[in-house]
Amino acid sequence: MSPSQAGTAPTTVLTVDYRMPTVADGTRLWEIASDSKVLDVNSSYSYVLWCHDFADTSIVAEVDGRPVGFVTGYRRQSDPSTLMVWQVAVDDSMRGHGVAASMLHHLFDRANRHGMVAMHTTISPDNIPSQRLFESVAKARGLRFERRDLFAANTFPDSHEPEDLYMLEPEIPEP
Ligand SMILES: CC(C)(COP(=O)(O)OP(=O)(O)OC[C@H]1O[C@@H](n2cnc3c(N)ncnc32)[C@H](O)[C@@H]1OP(=O)(O)O)[C@@H](O)C(=O)NCCC(=O)NCCS
Repeated sequence: MSPSQAGTAPTTVLTVDYRMPTVADGTRLWEIASDSKVLDVNSSYSYVLWCHDFADTSIVAEVDGRPVGFVTGYRRQSDPSTLMVWQVAVDDSMRGHGVAASMLHHLFDRANRHGMVAMHTTISPDNIPSQRLFESVAKARGLRFERRDLFAANTFPDSHEPEDLYMLEPEIPEP
């Protein structure tokens, strides 16, 4: 063993691929959402349908051929310049490596090419990781980051947290 090899542990480089989801990913997206213990878990059907109908505005992060994270989104019908992000989740084992931020950047780059210049999402007040995630993406892209009340707790029939609207918007030039 040469002196330079002594005490050096092999390093693992994390290779993550980012791509549009397909119908075959629906089940795995549902699993990641269920495992998160944070997201509202919708029916397995809704994830399969989303991968079919909203693949253009959604993204999957994959390691060794297995999805480890996803973002589901849609183009807002009343404002086609806005990409509305519905859910973001990263498998517990992959958190803290920038996977969620990279998914949002890849998706936003794609959305920009189709005229979506703003990104909106809703986040509950206690979900600090998600607030930090979107704030970080806004900062990296030089976008305004604003919060507004959207759905109060009493909007929901069950004991759901409020959902605040977070907006990542291009800066309005000074007149
Ligand atoms: C929120 C979530 C998607 C973040 O995924 P991730 O891949 O670990 O996030 P990243 O590594 O890309 O981090 C992006 C930014 O968020 C910050 N962040 C991520 N997790 C955080 C935490 N637990 N506490 C504080 N900040 C956090 C990072 O520091 C980073 O900010 P920086 O660029 O200023 O350093 C992940 O924790 C998750 O799946 N949570 C459960 C589901 C959920 O709450 N989804 C959001 C609501 S739809």
